[in-house]
Amino acid sequence: MIGAIRPPAQQLVTVFGGSGFLGRFVVRALAKRGYRVLVATRRPDLANHLQPLGMVGQIHAIQANLRYPESVRHAVAKADHVINLVGILQESGPQSFGTLQAEAPQLIAEAAAPDARIIHVSAIGADAQSESLYARSKAEGEAGLFAARPDATVFRPSVLFGPGDGFFTRFAALARTLPVLPLAGADTRFQPVYAGDVAEAIAGAVDGTVPGGRVYELGGPQVQTLRTLVEYVLATTERRCVLVNLPWPVARMQGSVMGFLDRASLGLLPDDFVITRDQVTLLERDNVVSEAALREGRSFEGLGITPTAYEAIVPSYLVRFRKTGQFDLKRNAGPSAPPDLLAPESTGPDSNLQPGTASGPAIGQQASR
Ligand SMILES: NC(=O)c1ccc[n+]([C@@H]2O[C@H](COP(=O)([O-])OP(=O)(O)OC[C@H]3O[C@@H](n4cnc5c(N)ncnc54)[C@H](OP(=O)(O)O)[C@@H]3O)[C@@H](O)[C@H]2O)c1
Repeated sequence: MIGAIRPPAQQLVTVFGGSGFLGRFVVRALAKRGYRVLVATRRPDLANHLQPLGMVGQIHAIQANLRYPESVRHAVAKADHVINLVGILQESGPQSFGTLQAEAPQLIAEAAAPDARIIHVSAIGADAQSESLYARSKAEGEAGLFAARPDATVFRPSVLFGPGDGFFTRFAALARTLPVLPLAGADTRFQPVYAGDVAEAIAGAVDGTVPGGRVYELGGPQVQTLRTLVEYVLATTERRCVLVNLPWPVARMQGSVMGFLDRASLGLLPDDFVITRDQVTLLERDNVVSEAALREGRSFEGLGITPTAYEAIVPSYLVRFRKTGQFDLKRNAGPSAPPDLLAPESTGPDSNLQPGTASGPAIGQQASR
């Protein structure tokens, strides 16, 4: 196969959705391994933030839109591997679940070279029988993909977290603005998964160390209800906000009304406030890794990846939602406060600093030469 013959620097990976939230982590993981990366996006001019993730010339952006098959064929023409991260949470105009999530995976697979590895990101909850259009379209996308390429690799993550995510950050933003936060699906269980861990699994699939022809379900080390996770956000950001569990009929009505208002305002409502009827339907089912996936090794455990707990990462990017940001930490610091890792290292008599064993010359030594 390609991977066995040529080193990563001579292999091109096309990443649809590389400009999105998960895309940033995937592009970084691929660049670190040395692959050449082609980010296929509708707006290549807005993908410049990806360039510093690799060496000069390693990452390029190309114009492609999954609604235009010719642009897809052009984007994969020279690719040794193709990754599809494109997904939407709600439809708007021509951006439909049918085109982007149900049909595009097969289109991409058929356009790619027959020996290219195809890696696709779906979502836990993908289900052809679901009442949710999102969940059905994800399942149809997987089916179409496997019909074209039975050896493709599919990853279904639970809710993703990391700097810039749409989950913890969204609730932190809402709690900053609202005194009362109505929660649809407060008791629904989630398994938040670090985007960096999912990117490692995807990069492993490009390397060829993840067996294809399977659907992997990826979740973090903890399963928590939505209410517990939102309470964690409130505690981390030191915000007070009354959480109200919405009964399902009220939540469904809220979804219908919000969806209507969002459409009527041509999408002008702030995204953080909008929850559609389809999203409420999704919330009616737990979003956790299935027993079958765990048993059959179609999980992080099976891939030999230890998933990261959200407590290890989330506080670092929610700190800006505190009333006085990071300065709160210093102001409230008592004798038992955790060390300030950014403070200059002490050189006092009790310090562990041993200039003699340092790898470089001490500043004083260098200056005296
Ligand atoms: N975020 C989560 O918690 C979560 C959970 C489970 C599963 N997933 C799945 O993981 C994948 C990545 O999610 P994400 O959070 O990274 O999404 P995201 O940040 O919204 O990124 C979506 C990407 O899709 C691209 N895109 C949208 N419409 C397109 C079109 N017509 N043609 C080409 N590209 C298009 C966008 O690129 P441009 O706008 O630059 O073209 C963007 O890069 C999705 O499949 C999602 O369903 C996400």
